[in-house]
Amino acid sequence: MASPKILIVEDSRSFRNILKHLLKAVDAVITEAANGKSGLKKAQAEEFDLIISDVDMPVMNGLDMCRALKDDMKTRSIPVILLSSMEKEVDVDKGFEVGASAYLGKSTAEKYLMQTIDDVLHRSVFNRDRTILVVDDSKTILKLVESGLSKSGFQVVSALNGKIALDLLKNMKPDLIISDLDMPVMDGFEFRNRIIEKQKLAKIPFIVMSANSDRASMRNMVEKGAAAYLVKPFNLEQLVILTEKLLSNQFQLLLKDRQRLVSERKAMLGSITALAHALEARDPYTRGHSENVSRFVEYIAEVMIDSKEEIQALRIGAGLHDIGKIGIPDSLLLKNGQLTKTEKKIFEQHPVIGSNILQPIPSLKQIIPIVLYHHERFDGLGYPGKLKGKEIPIWARITAVADTYDALTTDRPYRKGFPKEVALQIIREIRGTQLCPECVDALLETMK
Ligand SMILES: [Fe+2]
Repeated sequence: MASPKILIVEDSRSFRNILKHLLKAVDAVITEAANGKSGLKKAQAEEFDLIISDVDMPVMNGLDMCRALKDDMKTRSIPVILLSSMEKEVDVDKGFEVGASAYLGKSTAEKYLMQTIDDVLHRSVFNRDRTILVVDDSKTILKLVESGLSKSGFQVVSALNGKIALDLLKNMKPDLIISDLDMPVMDGFEFRNRIIEKQKLAKIPFIVMSANSDRASMRNMVEKGAAAYLVKPFNLEQLVILTEKLLSNQFQLLLKDRQRLVSERKAMLGSITALAHALEARDPYTRGHSENVSRFVEYIAEVMIDSKEEIQALRIGAGLHDIGKIGIPDSLLLKNGQLTKTEKKIFEQHPVIGSNILQPIPSLKQIIPIVLYHHERFDGLGYPGKLKGKEIPIWARITAVADTYDALTTDRPYRKGFPKEVALQIIREIRGTQLCPECVDALLETMK
């Protein structure tokens, strides 16, 4: 996730400083407010990913601020973490009542805050990406349900009957469907029947909300796979909690998946990095080269790419760009002097060999284009794919520039490395032929 924008609302300056100190770990962009009123104003004026607020404050307390945030269309989906020295159960209840995503006691803040922030931010990104289709012939109910769900950050699409909903489903795949039963044109039973027929839609969790409470209808809908049946009038909170619960099973699965990927990636990177070091140990002239290329790639990427995650992945990929050289025989890799035509052909296999090494590792898929295409040229005369211009993935084009720059400035057995200015001049001369112009410009800017 890019640096989250966090608003801290807290009347005690010293506690604000403690929070700022703790938040350094998530690399957040922080704005401060000293009471609820000023917090509310700032949240309405600017966009935030998260608000962390005290409860007991002068002018406007945290509960009133939270309530006001949740009543405003513009700010209702920003998650709020309440932090308070009032840690009794009734206080916590009050916090959730006004729509807070989490409530922490100040005494435990240091221990739990980071984990809570991580959970809340991921949940909020998750909710923001979930779309819920609500079907009801009453506009009042549609409005009510829509407002309740969007307070939790969900995207809501609504339809006045089953037929309109089916039409919408031709072009969208919601994560959850909530539907009334008694509706004109096409009622909820028929709507459900039509959904079950379509494999693509049948698995979407389906909630029935109906004034119809006879057992036969309920059984009928449950048999048709409805995940829940709410009898009107129901409490809106109930619906929101049910929605979050149904989707959070899915969320928990995603979260586990993410954690598994992260640890798998770490383990794999460990062994791959060891491989890269083995390669460098074999060939003294590439020693340090991968590390340098990684560093230059990062400089260039910081000019061209906003996402920190992408830059990090790119950095990892650049560090492994020559991993395929592990499959090139010593007689070639360490040869002093020109390679013959046949030898050159073999040497030019290293991007393909490298990509084959990484292929079986799912979490490294993203960086394969760097390894495979770092010797493509912008004018289409490179190898192995002879890709041209923007056909070459941007990460590979960036790596090519960094690779070339480091090769020029490093000492070789047959020549000394060029000084920075000379190397940059050579790079300027091959801008647009060998190297991507945009990436060269980024290098020049960062080397100024
Ligand atoms: Fe290479």
